[in-house]
Amino acid sequence: MNTEKKHILVTGGAGYIGSHTVVALIEKGYTPIIIDDFRNSNKDVILRLEKITNSEIIYFNVACQDTFRLKGVFSQFPIEGIIHFAADKAVGESMEKPLMYFDNNFGSLISMLELAKEFEVKSFVFSSSCTVYGDPKQIPVNEQSPVSYNSPYGFTKKVSEEMIEQFVKSCPIVKATLLRYFNPVGAHESGTIGEEPDGKPNNLLPFITQTAAGVRDELTVFGKDYDTPDGTCIRDYIHVVDLAEAHVAALEMSDSNEVNPKVFNVGTGKGTSVLEMIKAFEKITGKELPYKFGPRRDGDIKEIFANTDKVNKELKWTSRKTIEEAISSSWTFEQYIRELRKEA
Ligand code: WQD
Repeated sequence: MNTEKKHILVTGGAGYIGSHTVVALIEKGYTPIIIDDFRNSNKDVILRLEKITNSEIIYFNVACQDTFRLKGVFSQFPIEGIIHFAADKAVGESMEKPLMYFDNNFGSLISMLELAKEFEVKSFVFSSSCTVYGDPKQIPVNEQSPVSYNSPYGFTKKVSEEMIEQFVKSCPIVKATLLRYFNPVGAHESGTIGEEPDGKPNNLLPFITQTAAGVRDELTVFGKDYDTPDGTCIRDYIHVVDLAEAHVAALEMSDSNEVNPKVFNVGTGKGTSVLEMIKAFEKITGKELPYKFGPRRDGDIKEIFANTDKVNKELKWTSRKTIEEAISSSWTFEQYIRELRKEA
């Protein structure tokens, strides 16, 4: 896609993956337009993005389901693509509040698809998740691996994929790409944007960095009796900057007239255990991490990591950053945000 200043709408663009994708879009010559209602992100991200990119960020404080206001945005800018991140995404929370997840995740997607159709948007990139593989029988998983779901959150991702498949049959002008992320980790090299969970972190690396920063007393490792080399769960941790670049690659790939939608695993193709993450953190930072072993966490699966042949070949994308870079950049961001929040 010839990118000179092509306008790309980024829903949830002030969030963790969204903000990193906004940086990648600007670096590649696009003009991102952020749609975010800041329910799960902070407004000061916008200023930090402007500093990183040395450019003015166009953003609207609006919910994805506010189609009336969004029609105004689509009428104001020639939007060529949509990257749809906005969704609730905590597995545990979805168990407690399934209806909120159905309303927000499905409602937001339907609204964005309606706008894509009305304004003839050519590319639609959807933020999916390895969660759709449930507890895989075969590792690594490829895009043909069986899909299921272990939680209302996973259900919304699986069904959203199917909704998009049905939608593009009725509206072939929209070329859709479904990206199944593995475990996003890390932060931008500036150390000024990164993962800033609201309240107690669900995910491993932010819990590690908050423990090291003294915000949490100690990390609990959820189970050490799994059938893995060190007894702890294995995941495919992918650097968020690499993940952001996969979205730009998907945007550019969407011009192809082949299968629609196309589905890709976006991971490193390597598995890392919880204990390996802890040891790597201690080695990189020189800080001893206080942790203990606790019971398994409901809904956790033993092991998953990606077969990345398809994304490497068809999207011409491969992960480049290491786990060590992800851990180091996360720690840098944690120290930055602790300082920033202290001053607030
Ligand atoms: C990783 C490992 C935990 C915290 C989730 C979503 C997935 C995706 C990524 C959105 C597990 C262990 C964690 C802690 C621990 N998100 N852990 N102590 O559950 O693999 O995936 O986030 O798309 O959809 O399901 O990530 O970081 O929560 O857990 O021992 O305090 O770390 O048991 O083995 P998960 P996670």
